[in-house]
Amino acid sequence: MEQNQKLIVILLPIIFILGTITIYSSFLYTHPSSVISNNRVHVEFFVMSKCPDAMKCETSMLPSLLKLSSIINFTLSFIATEAKLNDFNCMHGIEECIGNKQQLCIQDMYSQTVFIKYLQCQSKRIDMIPYNGERCASETSGNIIKWHDVQSCVQSNKANELFHKSLQRTYLMAARKSCTIYINGRLWCMHDRFWSNCAEGHDEMSFIRAICSRYNGRNKPVECTIFV
Ligand SMILES: *[C@@H]1O[C@H](CO)[C@@H](O)[C@H](O)[C@H]1NC(C)=O
Repeated sequence: MEQNQKLIVILLPIIFILGTITIYSSFLYTHPSSVISNNRVHVEFFVMSKCPDAMKCETSMLPSLLKLSSIINFTLSFIATEAKLNDFNCMHGIEECIGNKQQLCIQDMYSQTVFIKYLQCQSKRIDMIPYNGERCASETSGNIIKWHDVQSCVQSNKANELFHKSLQRTYLMAARKSCTIYINGRLWCMHDRFWSNCAEGHDEMSFIRAICSRYNGRNKPVECTIFV
């Protein structure tokens, strides 16, 4: 009996401390992905521009992002290594690094919708990246994307800065596989030869439902009423 009481005296504070830590950390790590808010839903793709998995994610998910463009904040980040500052190494070679820079420059210079349309075109032929950039720019943007300006960006230090920042984001979010999709800062789904970690599904309807269900602001796009 006395032994038991001693045990309780020792265990209670431990349980209390562990409980406090658990509750505290659950607050710490609760991410806004489950939070319904009036703010744009953050959608992030982590990719390598010439990767077949990127092609899969982009060709299957970008049409939905275009439909929901008014309620999302889309960011494309890249997976590559940077041995020393501005010394980038891309898994699919130098051409992939250039393709990444084209996409980063366009993401930086133009509206989200213009960028998504461009990306949709370019990712249909990943084998042609970066050489399909100019054609995609003119086919998808009318005259909005000035290819000369994009080229200047790609060849300038601006592109290095964007690439560097992008890799920092990828590192911070611990995304390692192309393609990884995050919604509101949390892993939503991956495609690494196969779909994985996709608790809410991975088809267009699931993606639209996932985004719409996290948005409670005004002027929901019509797709939200169709799919939710
Ligand atoms: C998207 O998110 C970024 C980073 O949080 C922010 O700087 C930017 O203003 C947002 N864009 C829109 C259109 O809300």
